[in-house]
Amino acid sequence: MAGLVRTQLVAGRRPLCRPGPALTGDTPLPQDHEYVLGLSAFYHDSAACLLRDGEIIAAASEERFTRKKGDPAFPQRAVAYCLEEAGITVDRLGKVGFYDKPLLKFDRILETYLGIAPLGVKSFLMAGPLWIKDKLYMDRQIREALGYDGPMLYAEHHESHAASAFFPSPFEEAAILTMDGVGEWATATIGSGRGNDIEILRELQWPDSLGLLYSAFTYYTGFKVNSGEYKVMGLAPYGEPKYVDLILRELVDLREDGSFTLNQVYFDYLGGLTMTNGAFDRLFGGPPRQPETKLTQKEMDLARSVQGVTEEIMLRMARTAHRATGHPNLCLAGGVALNCVGNGRLLREGPFERLWIQPAAGDAGGALGVAQLIWHRHSGRPRVVTAGRDSMKGAYLGPEYPPDAIERVLQAQGAAYTRLPPEELRQRVARLLAEEKVVGWFNGRMEFGPRALGARSILGDPRSPRMQAQMNLKIKFREGFRPFAPSVLRERVSDYFELDCDSPYMLLVAPVRKERQIPISSEAQQLWGIDRLNLPRSDIPAVTHIDYSARVQTVSRETNPDYYELIQEFEALTGCPVLVNTSFNVRGEPIVCTPEDAYRCFMRTHIDFLVLGPFLLEKRAQPAREESADWKLEFQLD
Ligand SMILES: [Fe+2]
Repeated sequence: MAGLVRTQLVAGRRPLCRPGPALTGDTPLPQDHEYVLGLSAFYHDSAACLLRDGEIIAAASEERFTRKKGDPAFPQRAVAYCLEEAGITVDRLGKVGFYDKPLLKFDRILETYLGIAPLGVKSFLMAGPLWIKDKLYMDRQIREALGYDGPMLYAEHHESHAASAFFPSPFEEAAILTMDGVGEWATATIGSGRGNDIEILRELQWPDSLGLLYSAFTYYTGFKVNSGEYKVMGLAPYGEPKYVDLILRELVDLREDGSFTLNQVYFDYLGGLTMTNGAFDRLFGGPPRQPETKLTQKEMDLARSVQGVTEEIMLRMARTAHRATGHPNLCLAGGVALNCVGNGRLLREGPFERLWIQPAAGDAGGALGVAQLIWHRHSGRPRVVTAGRDSMKGAYLGPEYPPDAIERVLQAQGAAYTRLPPEELRQRVARLLAEEKVVGWFNGRMEFGPRALGARSILGDPRSPRMQAQMNLKIKFREGFRPFAPSVLRERVSDYFELDCDSPYMLLVAPVRKERQIPISSEAQQLWGIDRLNLPRSDIPAVTHIDYSARVQTVSRETNPDYYELIQEFEALTGCPVLVNTSFNVRGEPIVCTPEDAYRCFMRTHIDFLVLGPFLLEKRAQPAREESADWKLEFQLD
């Protein structure tokens, strides 16, 4: 296993950030602290993360600031935010880390093209010059962008994922499983974490990749690769697993230990510009579904089948990790760890007693991983574990806006608003939710990772049978089949779901408790696919998926007291300690970051009320806004 590589130093150029705030008498001198900045960039979902004396004090994805979903650009604005949060300038950074090794990645790309030449010429002609021009000179690029001339360190892609999975976890020792599309060569690794170090024990290498297998079906079923995987997972319960045997016979040679070989006859990602090819089309009886065309039972069956195969591979890899390490706990990261249905099965059927999943499991989390690798492994600093509590601070690691800053925005927008004391605000919002109103909830620091966890969320009443369709079509402008997730008070989770552990990051799917389920009549069972969507399936129908499952977020007072107390208030009013929680954005847009983003999103959708910190806004009271052509266009695109 390769360790961190120190690169040559070159002189820095222009500074990135303005000076931090003036120090007061009680503020510790910044010279007393050590800062490490982690970066992920240039592939998709760029991000920055800042450690102060090893503590994660800020982390954010660039997309939230630039408003470009999955923005792969250098995370200039995320870095600026992290430094501002710490009140420091770039010259205070002790070390900067990058989440993968560009040279190794180029080596893999070059070897792939050489191995299949002349087949990949077209693709190489598109990708090769870009690599040579930009990515191989990354060190210089990063230094120039930061205005930084200190030590730069590079970790391997899966080491960064593994570090992001283990170091912030609540475990002193654990097995580690990382799975994604591809980094340099590795596509999945099994490792072991103990104290302040991690060790990678095994790896599966390109082109055999669980992430790419899933992405191939994402592409074939007509969704966008790297973001549509969630839709495939959401679609799966509407289908039958009728292609599982075919996949395992023709596409995936799966071994007992979870490793596998993908039959490249059917894929085009090695040298082509698409994921699958004509042989794949022939095997599954036709070309890929065109995006935005009607979904059919075939896509649902394909989704169910690839989901089933993925879960089987995850389970086998987890068993191997358990055998190899003997640890009772498992930490997960990498894009496949966002497959919360698979994670739920790992928890229920796998050999591990406890799971911990990095909330920013995709490449954004690599920024956090490399920073922690530098702190613990490279610098040899000890790791302090608090039993039962991770060090992610609930993933609330992004920007926060004080009331006066929010009020300035509201005044500039000419918004109609009321400021309420916290208790009155909670009571009003709980009442509105109980009246089936949809409420935008903008509170505290923004989440790090793809899920909204009660800081940038849209909330609704889970008991309402109309809520799922209403929120999908009128608020999120997205496909009606997509399920919504419940936020539930941590102490009440077992009263509603077959789950008895923390799931703070909405990364575990569990069944709704049997006694809450409403059986489907034999007549209704004749309906197929999406026609079954409107049948109430439990006493919290808006968050109960077609197969009686739910993607659960447990909410605790320690990490998000305001959100916790709002749900408590809703429970006091209705007896139900659950809310619908969906991310505060519309289709194709990153989750809102600033009060301006939130107000804009509120005004463009059918959200009835908006809470911005201590302020409450009613849609009907807002001044009429002329919709620009851009807005209308935006809604038609994804
Ligand atoms: Fe990755």
